[in-house]
Amino acid sequence: MLSKEEQTTARPVVLGGHAGSKIDSPDWPIWGDRERDLLTRVLESGWWAFEGPAEAEFERRFAELQTARRGLCVANGTVALQLALEALDIGVGDEVIVPGFTWQATAAAVVDVNAMPILVDADPETYCPDPGGIEAAVTPRTKAIIVVHLYDSLSDLDRILEIASRHHLHVVEDCAHSHGSQWNGRGVGSVGDIGTFSFQSSKTLTAGEGGFVTTNDEALYERLYSLRNCGRRRKEAITPTTHDLQSGNYRMTEWQSAILLAQLERFEEQMSTKERNAGILDSTLGRIPGIKPMRRDRQVTRRNLYGYVFRYAEEEWQGLSCRAFRKAMSDEMGLEFGAPYRPLNMSSLYRPQTKQRHHLSDQYWGGLDPGKYALPVAEHAYRHEAVRVLHQNLLTDSREISQIPKAVEKLRGFLPELLDWERSLPKGEDTPPE
Ligand SMILES: Cc1ncc(COP(=O)(O)O)c(C=O)c1O
Repeated sequence: MLSKEEQTTARPVVLGGHAGSKIDSPDWPIWGDRERDLLTRVLESGWWAFEGPAEAEFERRFAELQTARRGLCVANGTVALQLALEALDIGVGDEVIVPGFTWQATAAAVVDVNAMPILVDADPETYCPDPGGIEAAVTPRTKAIIVVHLYDSLSDLDRILEIASRHHLHVVEDCAHSHGSQWNGRGVGSVGDIGTFSFQSSKTLTAGEGGFVTTNDEALYERLYSLRNCGRRRKEAITPTTHDLQSGNYRMTEWQSAILLAQLERFEEQMSTKERNAGILDSTLGRIPGIKPMRRDRQVTRRNLYGYVFRYAEEEWQGLSCRAFRKAMSDEMGLEFGAPYRPLNMSSLYRPQTKQRHHLSDQYWGGLDPGKYALPVAEHAYRHEAVRVLHQNLLTDSREISQIPKAVEKLRGFLPELLDWERSLPKGEDTPPE
């Protein structure tokens, strides 16, 4: 017979039990003496603005990590996307195909250059943009495709580049989630025309804020350089025939580069710990009925994870909702098993029809309406299927990470009681802060 203690540990927390083992993962961001030293160096040097020695070194090292010929620091990942589109000369009258399952910035950047975002649905096995949907969305006005490498998956760059080349389209890779990842041995951001990155505080390489653009094309690099710095040309690139461009200040500071250099020193080890733990989760969770890991394409030769995502099938859990499962798991483990992004057709932060400067014409204004898109795969993932664990929770050892599948199995053993418990929950949707 089980002791009282054993009985309460054996029950799920949401049914009054105690948590089993918890994962002892670090708070994010991780920092130490190295950040302090490099920041002090910046302070004492008096070179606090842009194009200092830390920035030059970080640009070189980060571009190398992404196997890109060129890289530039910019203010954040949102303006990185905007500058990428401007460098490609995209604006009024152009359409840009954009994933409907992403952070709002991916589409907002298109509106901010006065082009028309065309939302496409996700691949149900990776949640990255579906190549078939991309191809179907191409029109004579399409100029570019923005792909997003979402959470722990990469977009199918082979198929998307093939579509782009057949239709003469540019490809921008939004790599805000995938620093360090590689597709067929090439760093993401160096496969399409331009890659964009974010160093915002939740990201796997962070300075609190910050962004980056990568390219292999010298002419695009020169344009990106000018666009981030009020239109100025690089000194080395000035010739009697070059002209300055109109632009604003999208620069990053030396403080951020100093922190990023320190963060980079821990990055490879963090990436391989997460990859190892993701492998454990893929194989253990994959054996539990009603749980499916995401598809792992063989072209993904190195993978960083911004989050670990898996798929939950309500119908194989006697109808226990994904929302209830996320809550039961979060309480069980004392960490977030969250919902993914709200798809852009229902996002509270993608509201392009609320800014008067986007009212270029009635036709354009009407075309911006995100509500006109059906994104069934993304909507199903958001409401009923996707479960997301934050990347820092994977920075632990293999024994601790195995608590996750054990907790899932534990919940499965209490399904009838969990269904009763779910009836007592307030109705509504998961509304993770957007
Ligand atoms: C997919 C994606 N793209 C772009 C961005 C924008 O980056 P930032 O917050 O640095 O502007 C983010 C940030 O959350 C993101 O997740």
